Amino acid sequence: MIDASAAEALVCALLPHPRVPLAQLPTPLEDAPRLSERLGLRVLIKRDDQTGLALGGNKARKLEFLLGQALAEGADLVITTGGTQSNHARMTAAACRKLGLACRLILNRGPHNELQGNLLLDHMFGADVTVIDSENPADAVPALEAAAAQARADGGKPYLIPRGGSVPTGATGYAAMIPELMAQLDAMQIHPSILYLATGSTGTHSGTLAGLAALGFPFPIQGISVSRPSRMQQEQVLDLTRRTLAHLGLNADVPESASRVDDRFVGPGYGYPTDETMAAIETLALDEGIVLDPVYTGKAMAGLLAHAREGRVGSDDVVVFLHTGGAPALFAYNAEVAATAPA
Ligand SMILES: Cc1ncc(COP(=O)(O)O)c(C=O)c1O
Repeated sequence: MIDASAAEALVCALLPHPRVPLAQLPTPLEDAPRLSERLGLRVLIKRDDQTGLALGGNKARKLEFLLGQALAEGADLVITTGGTQSNHARMTAAACRKLGLACRLILNRGPHNELQGNLLLDHMFGADVTVIDSENPADAVPALEAAAAQARADGGKPYLIPRGGSVPTGATGYAAMIPELMAQLDAMQIHPSILYLATGSTGTHSGTLAGLAALGFPFPIQGISVSRPSRMQQEQVLDLTRRTLAHLGLNADVPESASRVDDRFVGPGYGYPTDETMAAIETLALDEGIVLDPVYTGKAMAGLLAHAREGRVGSDDVVVFLHTGGAPALFAYNAEVAATAPA
């Protein structure tokens, strides 16, 4: 049972923060009957792949607050970073178009740098794109700062968004998803036992955790890492969760144990899908007609499928899987997809 005053406090804490509408909300919360039957437990999918902005995905929620802040500060240019198949970059470029802002993208080289998927869309949205010859995110930072300094020197007002928009302002978008999700669960009379999500730059995980913390943790989150080792990811999630709560002026306690991450599905590294990733994509396509992606949600679903096999979730559980989007990258990974698709 959620404390109504805690729920109200969360909603009130969100109100003073500048926000610009970019996402189609609420996103659907759907049963996944054939997947549920396969796993022997009930799975519902929160369809944040359907946020509507430029083919959808989780970044629309973060960008509502990030670009709300940018507009409040009078910015005329948004500068951000990610890999060449970054969904965050694609959605930022589209949102800038919608709001009449210029967009500069400083992207790290990745496993797929051809003009396909997200990178193709970045160009379609007219972003000023630079690809740097390194897969290391830290190597993009000096170029990012130089671009901001140059814009200021030219008399512009740049707004810098760090990788994935994973700062308290961006994570606030996911704290704001919690009242929406709780209302849907309430209407369906569902009490989930756990929520699964892909955890990368941590904003989605941390914002969601902050929202749940504000309500006294009605259910836990299981993060499936797409890049970092569990311990490092758990620490970063915990840190950003606490900073997001502070940003919102909420003083909920977040114990270390609330930040749970499994790193066994990362494979060779960020952006490199494994056979299990591709099998998970195929399973969702064939069971539910739902498109996952090779970088994030395919790994997260591989984690859920493995946890069900291992008995870490079972017939008494009701799982919510947060589908964070990412489908455009499939078209850059077409060789991997073709190799695993049924004949
Ligand atoms: C499709 C998709 N899913 C999940 C994530 C992970 O979200 P976060 O970076 O907030 O941890 C991202 C982030 O880039 C994403 O694009």
